[in-house]
Amino acid sequence: MSEAPLVTEELHGNIACWTLQRPKQLNALNGALIEALGAMVEEVQHRDEVRCVILTGSGDKAFVAGADIKEFADFDSVAGRRLAEHGQRTLFDAIALSSKPFIAAIGGFALGGGLELALACHVRIASDNARMGLPEVTLGLIPGYGGTQRLSRIIGRGRAMEMILSARMVKAAEALGCGLVSASVPRESLMEEALRVAQGLAANSPKALAAAIRAVQASGTPEGYEVEIDQFGRCFANEDFKEGVAAFLEKRKPDFPGK
Ligand code: CAA
Repeated sequence: MSEAPLVTEELHGNIACWTLQRPKQLNALNGALIEALGAMVEEVQHRDEVRCVILTGSGDKAFVAGADIKEFADFDSVAGRRLAEHGQRTLFDAIALSSKPFIAAIGGFALGGGLELALACHVRIASDNARMGLPEVTLGLIPGYGGTQRLSRIIGRGRAMEMILSARMVKAAEALGCGLVSASVPRESLMEEALRVAQGLAANSPKALAAAIRAVQASGTPEGYEVEIDQFGRCFANEDFKEGVAAFLEKRKPDFPGK
């Protein structure tokens, strides 16, 4: 008998909605889930029919409650380092540098590696009952899937430091106020809102989206401005640029090719 998939996909036009399927464990990220999701992220880069991905958790309690604590309970420091490095490279960085935008639809808990997964996405939308935090210090750890870096970049070092040192959970309203999420909506409207936002992104030039992601992800690095100049220049070589400008001049909506 074949095993149930750890991540399911539903297509809504050119938007793929991926649901993590470990509801009993609050979608905690075990090794198998990281591998499965990482492989899907790699594959989707080559799927022209998909222009945006929505990532969400199954069940009504959690987006993701963190890395699977049971899996690393007896790790030593070499294994711990490997866990963080492998996870960052195969999944978290792969999402952050994806050529297609990822939207995290956070319904419920997004803790530890779960919040870090949402932070790696390009847009975050929370349900009004969401609770977000990096509780790793309560386990004698620190965030290992990019949280110390990405949270600081997104909400500022001062607030990130406070959230990480206190291990405090933030409610949706506070998350909205500090820019951790870009919208907070009733739980029942979460997927509808995520789809609405996804459709808005997916209507834009796929090449320009990829270039914008690269440039924004380089912000705050010494190469940031150079990356922007380079990506800006490259856009002029794309068909999307010709179509975007032609559509503007002809007073119509652009129709960007999928590639
Ligand atoms: N890992 C493994 N299992 C987890 C889990 C996790 N991160 N979070 C929840 N679960 C499991 C629980 O063990 C429980 O399973 P059993 O029924 O088999 O005991 C099930 O999910 C339901 O959880 P609770 O009974 O605890 O549900 P609750 O409503 O009472 O509490 C919660 C919800 C506050 C989210 C609580 O589950 C919790 O605190 N979870 C851990 C959160 C956490 O510490 N996350 C950080 C992990 S470390 C990390 O992520 C490291 C990194 O950066 C790389």
